[in-house]
Amino acid sequence: MQPSAPIGVFDSGYGGLTILKELVNALPQYDYLYLGDNARAPYGTRSFETVYQYTLEAVEWFFEQGCELVILACNTASAKALRTIQQKDLANYGPSKRVLGVIRPTAEVIGRFSESGQLGVLATKGTVISESYILEIAHFFPEMAVYQQACPMWVPLIENGAHEGSGADYFVKESLDQLLQQSPAIDTILLACTHYPLLIPKISAILPNHIQLIAQGEIVAQSLAHYLERHPAMEDKCSKKGQIRFCTTDSTADFDEKGAIFFGKSLKSEHILLGH
Ligand code: DGL
Repeated sequence: MQPSAPIGVFDSGYGGLTILKELVNALPQYDYLYLGDNARAPYGTRSFETVYQYTLEAVEWFFEQGCELVILACNTASAKALRTIQQKDLANYGPSKRVLGVIRPTAEVIGRFSESGQLGVLATKGTVISESYILEIAHFFPEMAVYQQACPMWVPLIENGAHEGSGADYFVKESLDQLLQQSPAIDTILLACTHYPLLIPKISAILPNHIQLIAQGEIVAQSLAHYLERHPAMEDKCSKKGQIRFCTTDSTADFDEKGAIFFGKSLKSEHILLGH
């Protein structure tokens, strides 16, 4: 039988497209199904219960579409919903289904980037409060000191297409200053929100030269490649026509226009409803 399962890629909105772009670069042979829950974004300021509920609805939709493997390409959903879905809900959908996040694969390798052992993490308020990065990194790099800073204005600026304007300068500098004030020895900063790569030009312009900036896309892509090597039964189920389908819970015209900036290529989306 021909494999028929695209790999599901989920985000609250557009941010996951920065991850999808790297997945397609590294693993172009697979089919992907992307969903942005734009109608209910941002997730970063919502409660655990709400993010869990929204993410579970999305995961269920991916399974209905025939996905076997779903990647939560959203740090907030990975921090607030992934564990409960894996431990409590997944069994209801059959023994072979899997949901993976972006925090663990990042935590597994992030210690290799820093010489000082002092890492700065920029993320949404939800990811920061969950302390998921602190807990996961302690697992793999117990000596590492992790400093977190929430950047509540960054996702709204990006979702509204205001990230290149001069208005964004103030908020980018404010959050970076707040992070760097926590420790002068930070030599590596992780962009722990999949939206933030769009702010790299602004961040780089004010970041001291000795500090390196890490985005997650390539890390997640490498991790998925290894996962599929280690799980041949899952790999066999993944369809391989190199096709991508884009879906959004909000306006397709907006998604096509803004999504192209995140994905780096033009795209055409379909509208779907969640939670009905
Ligand atoms: N892109 C999501 C993340 O990686 C967050 C955006 C949001 O607040 O919805 O955390």
